Amino acid sequence: MIARERTANAFLTELFGLTMKVAVVTGAGSGIGHGIARYLAGAGADVVIADLSLDAGARVADELNAARPESALALRTDVSDEASVAATMRQSIERFGRVDILVNDAGIFPTTPIAEMTLQDWERVQAVNLRGTFLCLRAAALQMRKQGSGGRIINISSIDSLHPSMVGLAHYDASKGGVNMLTRSAALEFGADKITVNAVLPGMIATEGVAAMTKGSPGAMAQTTASFGARTVLGRVGTPEDIAACVLFLASEAAGYITGQTLVCDGGYLIG
Ligand SMILES: NC(=O)c1ccc[n+]([C@@H]2O[C@H](COP(=O)([O-])OP(=O)(O)OC[C@H]3O[C@@H](n4cnc5c(N)ncnc54)[C@H](O)[C@@H]3O)[C@@H](O)[C@H]2O)c1
Repeated sequence: MIARERTANAFLTELFGLTMKVAVVTGAGSGIGHGIARYLAGAGADVVIADLSLDAGARVADELNAARPESALALRTDVSDEASVAATMRQSIERFGRVDILVNDAGIFPTTPIAEMTLQDWERVQAVNLRGTFLCLRAAALQMRKQGSGGRIINISSIDSLHPSMVGLAHYDASKGGVNMLTRSAALEFGADKITVNAVLPGMIATEGVAAMTKGSPGAMAQTTASFGARTVLGRVGTPEDIAACVLFLASEAAGYITGQTLVCDGGYLIG
């Protein structure tokens, strides 16, 4: 009996584990991306922290390296810039030899009503959220295709891609709608390479980014998260770990037959 349990556990550890895998996580210097990097590293993956802020990325890499030496690398990356994305992919391969998992988490969510939105406001949000996802996805998928052993791409979208949550996020909501369709199209194109492409759609998650959106005022942050939390079926806002758990599953062998999907993780907000 004990032997059988051990066998089952070893099988499940392998099914859900990421030992010998290499993951690139964009935007992993803070918030949801930080949580994702911690979970992937905890499951055994080596992780590249690809963030616009090298300081923030280096802090996360230090944390992961303290837990498992030489398992993490921080690279300053601007996902909206083709050359920067290419450099990150090249340096990731130089350091870890391969890329098995890409998580496109980097994203921005400034608020501006359409009536006051400049073309520059619009373009910047599309450049980071949609173009950035495309550039990283293309670079990683081509590398995975070259490696010939499949791969996992997980895009962090938003429930705002399905239903606008507030006024002022039209550019953001449109960019995340684009991410959903890019996810499905890429899943179609890279299926033959055994590369799965899925998206996770978070509801309200308490992060540094949301704190900045509420202008850094702790009162406004608490009010925004409390009112959103009260409107969820589960009665709370989400945590980076809630999203990291979805990503960990989609990155694992266990999710090998799932592709082109958009997984909502919002405490039941959309059904409430
Ligand atoms: N927090 C939420 O409630 C929520 C809800 C739905 C979706 N999301 C999505 O989750 C993702 C992460 O959000 P968060 O709340 O953790 O944000 P955050 O601001 O806390 O973290 C985002 C990280 O991305 C980095 N970044 C920004 N622009 C970049 C660029 N051009 N290149 C590389 N890195 C860049 C930032 O430096 C930062 O470290 C975003 O895509 C966001 O749209 C967040």
